[in-house]
Amino acid sequence: MALPKTNPTTTKAWKKLTDHFEKIKTEHLREMFAADEARGKKFTLLWNDFLVDYSKNRITEETLQLLLELADEVGLKDAITSYFEGELINQTEGRAVLHTALRAKKQDKIYVDGKNIVAEVYEVKEKIKAFSNSVISGDKRGYTNKAFTDIVNIGIGGSDLGPVMITESLKFYKNHLKTHFVSNIDGDHVHEILKELDPETTLFVVVSKTFTTQETLSNALTIKKWFLNHGSEKDIATHFAAVSTNTQKIKEFGIADDNVFPMWDWVGGRFSLWSAVGLSISLSVGFKNFDSLLSGANEMDSHFKETPFSENIPVILALLSVWYNNFFNAETEAIIPYTQYLNRFSAYLQQGIMESNGKSMDRVGNRTNYETGTIIWGEPGTNSQHAFFQLIHQGTKLIPTDFIGFKESLHGEVDHHNKLMANFFAQTEALMNGKRAAEVKSELEAQDISQEELQRLLPFKIFEGNKPTNTILIQKLDPKSLGSLVALYEHKIFVQGIIWNIFSYDQWGVELGKQLAKNILHDIESSEIGKHDSSTLSLLHFFKK
Ligand code: F6P
Repeated sequence: MALPKTNPTTTKAWKKLTDHFEKIKTEHLREMFAADEARGKKFTLLWNDFLVDYSKNRITEETLQLLLELADEVGLKDAITSYFEGELINQTEGRAVLHTALRAKKQDKIYVDGKNIVAEVYEVKEKIKAFSNSVISGDKRGYTNKAFTDIVNIGIGGSDLGPVMITESLKFYKNHLKTHFVSNIDGDHVHEILKELDPETTLFVVVSKTFTTQETLSNALTIKKWFLNHGSEKDIATHFAAVSTNTQKIKEFGIADDNVFPMWDWVGGRFSLWSAVGLSISLSVGFKNFDSLLSGANEMDSHFKETPFSENIPVILALLSVWYNNFFNAETEAIIPYTQYLNRFSAYLQQGIMESNGKSMDRVGNRTNYETGTIIWGEPGTNSQHAFFQLIHQGTKLIPTDFIGFKESLHGEVDHHNKLMANFFAQTEALMNGKRAAEVKSELEAQDISQEELQRLLPFKIFEGNKPTNTILIQKLDPKSLGSLVALYEHKIFVQGIIWNIFSYDQWGVELGKQLAKNILHDIESSEIGKHDSSTLSLLHFFKK
């Protein structure tokens, strides 16, 4: 069954939401909480060791009801079935979208072209396990018979961001291997990393779904050249591994069959960390932890697939995001993890969310007459409080914000953790309540200042409040909870794409720049510059002079 093609603005629910919005748009969260003591509990979901409190959102029970009606009207239920059953929902590329199969249970059966792909997934998982174990234990060694000490992941976009984010997030669980990531075409990136490496003890993992990506191939070739200054051509087989769908190109690069890890075109780059693209994760934290990550994601998959929408975490979070994006005209969303370990989480989600839902053609091929993908940004708390929170609190823009925190700290620094979490709770409370003129006034009166001074300062110290937040509170940051958290956002992306009637799993928008860069590279490297606009021409002349 193809995905539905409903323009959401033509649904009954959308019309009702439009009227409803007019009625509640100025209502203040402070008053909503005062009017209903049970509000906090009413809008909280408990699942595994996750608590998701979405009560500090500008919604009533009616809002929620209407948003759920919208989900029904656009055919979300059937769309979820199509997604999990491997239908070709990535229609513009003619592909299934089955990253969920990568974390399926061994006994599950998921078919692509009549073939059960779960068996293949488990074969590759076994290969990842054996390879990681032999590198970690030191059984697999470099060309001078020394054990490996460093792993370098060479990839970009989905072939970099997922592995970087997860290895950074699970640093606490890391083994002795040092992991490095080379992604940028900027040669200074690769050279800064090479400075730290010993060719005799470094394993390079080239990750590219297509094995045609300019950045990855250039970096891999530069590294190969550097390596050949030390080792020989035959040592490439020992020191290089590759992950790709393009096995022919890997062979041409000289990588030994034993070190080749396949992937499939039904895995989108930005959803591929669960595949062999996660090899550097498995190397860095061990296969057991990698597997726990997968099982955490699998549990979130079951929750998403089986839970009624009114209690379904990805569905609720997606609906709230649509509410702000399309009715309040909020353009951005912030994601603020209260753990330093998740410092790459927002950057990772930027690709997942913005490459997926940054589309303006609907599934019919018409330009949407409504807003789609949100802009995602964020940094860990508390650092972000001292950087950009001013704007969230007192700026002119409405920025719905997700706060992600953990009950336990990993190093057990209770004093620090209590302070961290005090800030975590304080921020959502402050954003919700704000500070009224009367409160500011009495605070100023307690200070020994003149009436005139008081009146002058008063307006600047008022906080409007009424700023929406979600609080995701998890027991502990471990591979399993991280897997569930990432899968939560993946499914949120899916739900939003269905509602916005767009294709979330292609990325044609990145192609044009790549094409032009090829032509411009020719202009830079040859004596003549081709035809360009006057701005690009003069920039090129200046660069070449
Ligand atoms: O930037 C576009 C993109 O195709 C991403 O979707 C993908 O993650 C990245 O490039 C890398 O592609 P590949 O894994 O094929 O090298």
